Amino acid sequence: MEVKARKIRCLISAGPTREFFDPVRFMSNPSTGKMGYALARAALKMGWEVDLVSGPVSLPEPAGAAMHPVVTGEEMFARIDSLFDACDILIMTAAVMDYRPLQYSAQKIKKSGDSLVVQLSPVVDILKTVAARKKNQLVVGFAAETENISAHGREKLERKKADFIVANQVGAPGAGFASDTNFITLIGRDGFSLDIGPASKLEIAEQLITAFASQIEPLVGQP
Ligand code: CTP
Repeated sequence: MEVKARKIRCLISAGPTREFFDPVRFMSNPSTGKMGYALARAALKMGWEVDLVSGPVSLPEPAGAAMHPVVTGEEMFARIDSLFDACDILIMTAAVMDYRPLQYSAQKIKKSGDSLVVQLSPVVDILKTVAARKKNQLVVGFAAETENISAHGREKLERKKADFIVANQVGAPGAGFASDTNFITLIGRDGFSLDIGPASKLEIAEQLITAFASQIEPLVGQP
């Protein structure tokens, strides 16, 4: 049977999320969105359609991507959840905050001089939630680790039911948040493992997209 060619639809999340205590204060992390934006560019270069769900970053928008700006984990979840069923591949590079303040104060919290105890509640695991209903989609997660990157990456692959985890070490020179370069281990099912880099985030992104393309194109046809 001939497979009818169409553009591959790629859904990418990038950047940090923010969780607010009050109108002027939030918790977040140092993600700059560079890896996600590099993947968006590499995917566009392959002729794919790209939806980019992005937390607050200061990067130029990749020309041709459909942009979906979000701030909180809940907003990111709502966007990914609504776009997931129509995509061929989801790549979650976003550094989603795992917790948010249990209580939000509509007024600015005033300092009292005493220590302040803040209770946190978990934020939905976006990747795990949408991967649980995946059909033909390829689901790719990222794992930012400070140690034992392969073991933690493989554990996340299983726990989140992803097809691939891109594991990278944060805090290592030339890798991780804010760096223009990176080195990563691509972890897949059946013991698959591939080291890529050190290289620029764009070169790594191009190699990753090429690897993913070989998995998806048989399903939707060559673009
Ligand atoms: N992720 C997600 N939703 C969350 C947290 C993480 O979708 N609430 C995704 C990230 O985008 C990434 C993958 O899950 O693709 C792994 O994120 P990471 O922070 O490394 O893992 P956690 O599940 O948060 O585990 P831990 O922080 O304990 O290492």
